[in-house]
Amino acid sequence: MTRLTSLSRSLTAKVVVVTGAASGIGRATAHLLGDEGARVGLVDRDERRLQVVAKELMSAGAPVSLVAIDITAPGAADAVASQIRSALGPIDGLVNNAGVSRHVHVEDANFDDVWATTLAINLTAQAAFIRAALPDLRRERAGRIVNVASTEALGGMAHNSAYTASKHGVVGLTRAMAVELGTDGVTVNCVCPGPIHTGMTAVISDEHKDVFARRRTALRRYGEPEEVAHATLSLLLPAASYITGAVLAVDGGLTARSA
Ligand code: NAI
Repeated sequence: MTRLTSLSRSLTAKVVVVTGAASGIGRATAHLLGDEGARVGLVDRDERRLQVVAKELMSAGAPVSLVAIDITAPGAADAVASQIRSALGPIDGLVNNAGVSRHVHVEDANFDDVWATTLAINLTAQAAFIRAALPDLRRERAGRIVNVASTEALGGMAHNSAYTASKHGVVGLTRAMAVELGTDGVTVNCVCPGPIHTGMTAVISDEHKDVFARRRTALRRYGEPEEVAHATLSLLLPAASYITGAVLAVDGGLTARSA
């Protein structure tokens, strides 16, 4: 059969930066990228866990570079881009994954603090990392950006306004950057995970998780970090060259379900 296309599904030797790589979805994404032959820039503020992930990837033969840093620190994004560029080469892909979720009532005394911290980590840092990586991403007109949002980017729940606003912001950032960077050949997409077994949801009891998943998702179960990582990986492929500005739910059918 004649080949219709030469679009590549290989990430071999591509340099991909993953923020929040020490745990959960970020860790699974880093592992998957390593398995696919990518050179992985690992970023997280939890140095001890990040070292563990780096060792896991290196023992599987993946070239990695590790930067233990708070992504909201002044100059953090530029410092990360520069370190990873020096260690692994120019950046081909960016996975803006690091995030926090702190529940807060609108009248709580610490509302302003939770709001500022959540927006800084979940949204502002994503923009800063895009800006820092952009000179590399546009160099071959094939850069890939995947921002991790949430199903909370598509609806809302009580006591979670900072997180919900930040994730709605990620969708807006994704769409606006997709349009802005389209002329550079850089694609910008986001994934919206539903309920996933990670550090973020570890505080919820198994019983509550089970009840929630049965009530709210089509698949009646929580998802695994690797299931989100595979969606992200697909959007990073060279072959994903005509997907940009997309908002992809990876939620076991949570947003599809009305009853
Ligand atoms: P997690 O808590 O397991 O991992 C998050 C990682 O981000 C941690 O290693 C943490 O140290 C790092 N991080 C947080 N703030 C940081 C900062 N200021 N600087 C550097 N690193 C920082 O959580 P999970 O679930 O893997 O979260 C990953 C992304 O997925 C987040 O953006 C989250 O909002 C999103 N998400 C998760 C869902 C879930 O059910 N677990 C559902 C929807 C979205």
